[in-house]
Amino acid sequence: MCGIVGYIGERDATPLILGGLKKLEYRGYDSAGLAVLKNGQIEVRRNAGKLVNLEMNVCEQPISGTLGIGHTRWATHGEPSARNAHPHLSGSGEVVVVHNGIVENFIELKEELVTEGVVFQSDTDTETIVHLIEKFLSVTGDLESAARKALGQLKGAHGIVVFTSREPDKIIAARIGNAGGVVIGLGEGENFIASDIPAILEHTRKLIFLESRQMAVVTREDVHISTIEGTVIHPQVSSVAWDPVSAEKGEYRHFMQKEIHEQVRSLTDTLAGRVNFKEGTIRLPQLNLTVEKAKEVEKIVLTACGTASHAGMVGRILIERIAGIPAAMEIASEFRYSDPIVNDKTILIAISQSGETADTLAAMEEGRRKGATIWSIVNAIGSQAMRVADGSISMQTGPEIGVASTKAFTAPLVDLYMLAILLADLRGDLSVQERKKLVEDLRLIPELAGRCLDREGEVEETAYLLRESKDMLYLGRGINMPIAYEGALKLKEISYIHAEAYPAGEMKHGPIALIDENMPVVAIAIKDPWYEKMISQIEQAKARGGIVVAVATEGDERVAALVDRVLWVPEAPWMLSPVLTSIPLQMLAYHIATMRGLDVDQPRNLAKSVTVE
Ligand code: F6R
Repeated sequence: MCGIVGYIGERDATPLILGGLKKLEYRGYDSAGLAVLKNGQIEVRRNAGKLVNLEMNVCEQPISGTLGIGHTRWATHGEPSARNAHPHLSGSGEVVVVHNGIVENFIELKEELVTEGVVFQSDTDTETIVHLIEKFLSVTGDLESAARKALGQLKGAHGIVVFTSREPDKIIAARIGNAGGVVIGLGEGENFIASDIPAILEHTRKLIFLESRQMAVVTREDVHISTIEGTVIHPQVSSVAWDPVSAEKGEYRHFMQKEIHEQVRSLTDTLAGRVNFKEGTIRLPQLNLTVEKAKEVEKIVLTACGTASHAGMVGRILIERIAGIPAAMEIASEFRYSDPIVNDKTILIAISQSGETADTLAAMEEGRRKGATIWSIVNAIGSQAMRVADGSISMQTGPEIGVASTKAFTAPLVDLYMLAILLADLRGDLSVQERKKLVEDLRLIPELAGRCLDREGEVEETAYLLRESKDMLYLGRGINMPIAYEGALKLKEISYIHAEAYPAGEMKHGPIALIDENMPVVAIAIKDPWYEKMISQIEQAKARGGIVVAVATEGDERVAALVDRVLWVPEAPWMLSPVLTSIPLQMLAYHIATMRGLDVDQPRNLAKSVTVE
């Protein structure tokens, strides 16, 4: 959840670290800090609040040096404040650490250290790490062995970066478990460390991803990787094609708005190289899917958190309808505690933008333990969910920076649709005509998404009417029921308006009691197989004085006559309609939040990548 950046080279580390932290601020933003080695001494600057406070601090009291580390924090232990911000220094001031994760046994470790006379300066669990390393440094005499010993004592999952003024030519980085990534960026006479690729992308695209229980000793000229236990590793160097410019806001006010508008491109890229419209075929080579494998599958389990889980809910319907394979969507944080019925005839598909969500990774481990084939649909290239899966679909959306996920929601909807077609085809369940029709339906999707985006002005007008709401209700049915959940989640997380979503047919079983003129209802009532049912639910809401905003198919006068406002989407095959119906709801949440003066890219209490349980 926190962001980490490190640099060692010939350039001034401070602006490089601040620049990297800026790109990672979306990961956590309650405090930030950096430590630089200057004339043999470690100098630290830390501030509560957003990164800009740290930038001001560094402006007023400049520090420079050619080796340094930085951190943006999302608090777990200890309130967000300057004293709890990272980096943390050892008692002597000779060792400094930044950390992502939770030291689960920090109370025991802290008690032991306090008994030995260590004085703690913060309330964080992280501080135990720096004191432990200093303690072992006085025994081993070198940072590498001291770090190995200290890491051996930590319980939980961690990404850690440390250096000492006693060895001014190196930084050590380590990863244990799934507390977020640790990536080493290779330069010429300089090297970088980060928790997330965008932080260093403008400097290098040659990357080494640390696996769990691996450690990197990073000098200006070299990177040596080994296990925590000391076995030498010869890592694979990956090359990342992401364009650094796509990690900038450009002409847009917020990353979220830019990413909403990038959906035409991201959907086009999702199809590129995978769909052959002429032959009506789908290619997903990174899944390594064979006819035998497709035929032996008895069950598909989709697992994910938050927005990605809503994509999974749509995916469940697509897989059952198109491929005829029983499918379930399991919330990742529940999955591993539910003793799931999963075996070697099951494919478990994890969906994750970051590929580092702790609960999703744990669900993948649980599926693996039970013998399932593990696939992932992931956006962040090189992330853990991509690396540990047996097969993977890369979302092709480019970096998603806004905390509220948008383009990384619509891309997996298309991925799952393509996957369902491929499975059905390999199992021999589709005629050539059926397959060609399903594939052909994909052709116009990017263009239709563009038509939804063209209606932003109308959505903005509706947002204006709803901007002061206290509560809102989102209704949908069938394949658009998950889109009601997704619309409500978008609204809650960035506008702080209480929103609930319901399968519309459930209204009469209780929630209809909530409807009055103060409870606007957003109803997805497009021309899909559930259309007539949605009309009657809208009528029921109107009969109780509700203000109804409908997401409706262009030209549908019947819905227009019934409701207070319409968010129009173009007509599309119903199985692909969620790609379109989600877009006006993303824009609605965005505009309501900005009209309320809120920071939509960094909503309170949230972090982009949730690497704690
Ligand atoms: C909401 C949102 C979150 C994420 C969830 C899973 O807009 O972004 O609900 O969808 O935290 O994250 P990933 O997809 O990175 O696993």
